[in-house]
Amino acid sequence: MKITDALFAEHVVFHNMFDHIEATAPGLKTLAEIKCLATLVEKLLEAHSYTEDKLFIGPLEHCFEQIGQRETFHQEYEQIEQNLELIQRAKQLKQARLLLLGVVLASRKHFDKEERIVFPMAEQCLSSRTLVALGHKWRAQRQLPTR
Ligand SMILES: [Fe+2]
Repeated sequence: MKITDALFAEHVVFHNMFDHIEATAPGLKTLAEIKCLATLVEKLLEAHSYTEDKLFIGPLEHCFEQIGQRETFHQEYEQIEQNLELIQRAKQLKQARLLLLGVVLASRKHFDKEERIVFPMAEQCLSSRTLVALGHKWRAQRQLPTR
């Protein structure tokens, strides 16, 4: 399997989780429930972006230079991380809920950009052989804890 197919499949799982959060978060009555969902998003995103950074972004570095989006991608992800931290410190349900729904929206946009820009760029810049070799690495890494 190519690394791009593997990462895309991970995105699909995220979108399912995001659908669930968007459907249920408006009805949740406690801050703890929102924080619990935020922790789930944080842990899964952490593992996904660790894999993406380690296996994918490095070999693509030279392509990013051409399109000049490297910094934007990094900043978007940092913003998502910061908002997830803010949720854990939040004292009000309403504020935490808004932040969580914001994180979901920002993550969807970030994933969409990766799918529209980064994955096709990788398929152009890297050979099929490299994409498959990175897919094998992805599989090996996903069988082990990331930390
Ligand atoms: Fe991604």
